[in-house]
Amino acid sequence: MWDEYLPDELDARTRYQLLTSLVVPRPIGWLGTRSRERGDNLAPFSYFAAVSASPMLVSVSIGHRVDRPKDSLANIRETGVFTVNVVDVEHLDAMNTTSARAPHGVDEFELAGLEKAEATRIDAPYVADAPAMFECRLEREVDLGDAPNTLVLGRVVGVRVRATLGRLPGTEFVDTEELRPVGRLWGPAYMMPGDIVTRERPD
Ligand SMILES: Cc1cc2nc3c(=O)[nH]c(=O)nc-3n(C[C@H](O)[C@H](O)[C@H](O)COP(=O)(O)O)c2cc1C
Repeated sequence: MWDEYLPDELDARTRYQLLTSLVVPRPIGWLGTRSRERGDNLAPFSYFAAVSASPMLVSVSIGHRVDRPKDSLANIRETGVFTVNVVDVEHLDAMNTTSARAPHGVDEFELAGLEKAEATRIDAPYVADAPAMFECRLEREVDLGDAPNTLVLGRVVGVRVRATLGRLPGTEFVDTEELRPVGRLWGPAYMMPGDIVTRERPD
């Protein structure tokens, strides 16, 4: 027995509820951006994914407000760059604070009491004590038609990992138990780090 849904016949809220409770857990891209007029900005996005390692690309889908794009997208369009900060357990509440619909010109780093640092390869801010961070240049913007979202592809031009974070022996795989990433579920729900199991791939 199945409950079946046809996306074109659903209202936007139901589509959102189905998609975001079934595509789980989602990593959170915590975007640091800058505007000459509006200052610095920090906001979380869980329509976020790793797209390709060579070239190294990430994607983030950013919504629009009724009359204008969200500040993160406006800033990426203005500067062509952004940082993606990894959200760990310690930063869950600060990350949530930065999702507030803050007025133009409010610096969410200050709002959440976060220390800000300057990326070295691009002109953008990042969360100084995030466990890891990607420096990205806008590779391409993809118009999603009627959707109130714009897909941003970012080319990673620098990766910063906290030096004390362990790597799996003989590799640069960052130890997930030490990274302690948070995953987004639906609405206000998150998934905390849990058991890790491994399965060798068949030949
Ligand atoms: C965990 C989390 C994930 C979010 N993911 C998205 C997302 O993928 N796309 C989006 O448009 N908004 C998302 N939001 C909402 C934005 O963070 C929020 O609209 C924020 O105010 C945007 O900030 P800005 O206008 O400064 O860019 C998310 C919020 C939270 C708390």
